Amino acid sequence: MTEALDWWRTATVYQIYVRSFADSNGDGVGDLEGIRSRLDYLKDLGVDAVWLTPFYPSPMVDNGYDVADPRDVDPLFGDLATFDRLLADAHARGIKVTVDVVPNHTSSQHPWFQAALASPPGSPERARYWFRDGKGPDGDEPPNNWQSCFKGPAWTRVADGQWYLHLFTPEQPDLNWSNPEVVADFHRTLRFWLDRGVDGFRIDVAHGMAKPADLPDMDPRAMFNVVEHANYYDPRLNNEGVLELHEGIRRVLDEYPGTAAIGEVWTFDDEQMSQYIAPGRLHLGFDFRLALTEFDADKLRAAIDRSLAAPLSVGAPPTWTLSNHDVWRQVSRYGDGEIGLARARAMALVELALPGVVYLYNGEELGLPNGPLTEEQSTDPGGTSDMQGSRDVARIPLPWSGDMPPFGFTTGQRTWLPMPVEWADRTVEKQEADRSSTLWLYRDALRLRKTHPAMSGDTVSWEDAPPGCFVMRREGGLRCVLNSSDAPVDLPPGEVLLASSQVQDGKLQPNAAAWLV
Ligand code: GLC
Repeated sequence: MTEALDWWRTATVYQIYVRSFADSNGDGVGDLEGIRSRLDYLKDLGVDAVWLTPFYPSPMVDNGYDVADPRDVDPLFGDLATFDRLLADAHARGIKVTVDVVPNHTSSQHPWFQAALASPPGSPERARYWFRDGKGPDGDEPPNNWQSCFKGPAWTRVADGQWYLHLFTPEQPDLNWSNPEVVADFHRTLRFWLDRGVDGFRIDVAHGMAKPADLPDMDPRAMFNVVEHANYYDPRLNNEGVLELHEGIRRVLDEYPGTAAIGEVWTFDDEQMSQYIAPGRLHLGFDFRLALTEFDADKLRAAIDRSLAAPLSVGAPPTWTLSNHDVWRQVSRYGDGEIGLARARAMALVELALPGVVYLYNGEELGLPNGPLTEEQSTDPGGTSDMQGSRDVARIPLPWSGDMPPFGFTTGQRTWLPMPVEWADRTVEKQEADRSSTLWLYRDALRLRKTHPAMSGDTVSWEDAPPGCFVMRREGGLRCVLNSSDAPVDLPPGEVLLASSQVQDGKLQPNAAAWLV
């Protein structure tokens, strides 16, 4: 019983970027029925749960992260009946379903924001958001110096002269969480999906929900420092007041045993991270350190040690992720081409050897690189200093079968982002037929991760290794060897369970990893 309720402590969760996974109706945009038709693929891959990106009614300015109604399905993706069928069919295959919720802001088309625009300054309608008078003699300067996480000021002026706050696009006004109505409505949304049977949530911008009432200026240097962010004063994000809001979320989930929430909490401050996932708060917090660490055994080892220590100090499981819809695909981060792919395969074995929870991003199991996109083809309103340009390069639809785009993604001709012809050798169909493919590497790794007794224990230790390499040992005895140097190295004695490239004469190639017992 307890074990089943705790599924989220050791789960491998597969992120489905709904627009890009599979399209069932030929319009070139992925949808819920498309996902339902591919559930056997996910079962064969061996994932425990999925995370669905937002599929709620939305003007799609930020591809659904601008939610106009959090308790319905956008017709582009299906309807509530399709959602229920998808949920039932996933559960029938033993796959948990978690959904993305967006508490920090709504769409500007949400009825609340429309009502706020139609109401005067000081009205209860405006009090659900952050409306303020401007500075300067005519009030024509923004209320403070906050910048949007995307680009430009975080304030937009409305017809009567007031300004409203948006940490993202102007079409995503920030909600004021000190207003009890906002809290109550979000809890209603959680219960709406929990009552339908979802197993948990991914909470968008969970670190941004609370703002200090007086909205003090930020240190502008905070804009350009994701990793060192905590060194600069930035009242936009990671305010302490957010913890109480998370505790409220936790109380709702505790009414539904066996459900869990993971917060998108961008912080590289270990103490802050452990605060987010301390008892009574969020079950899990996204840790992005691995995704931001270069392919270097020493740096990766240091990153792993830190990312393990913070959650362990509060009894929460660590989480690992190499990519998502907001960052470059790892193959491209590690140098593209053969080297990029070899390193991404090696890192898959590193990540899947770690204790705790692993988040995979759809398409990484196919070794997909970024897609080539021109500026005109990109739909992304984001793209900031932190995000290395348009995020759409990591959101190209998945290639399923055949030799030409759209590779079985859709029955139509067009896809919402163009698919590169070169992906003909990356399709699921091709990779299923090739035992040495990246897809099979993930399948084998996921199976061993789940079933092999050597994969046990909450911590890791490090054994002696040649320069540019590490040997990481799980308590249960599994060793993961990584070679980030440019020469082959001798593997330690033991049986090789799995390797990201061929092991010859007991040697591990550069840019490779192996599991031994
Ligand atoms: C999160 C999402 C990102 C979105 C932003 C605004 O960071 O992951 O895709 O643009 O929130 O909702």
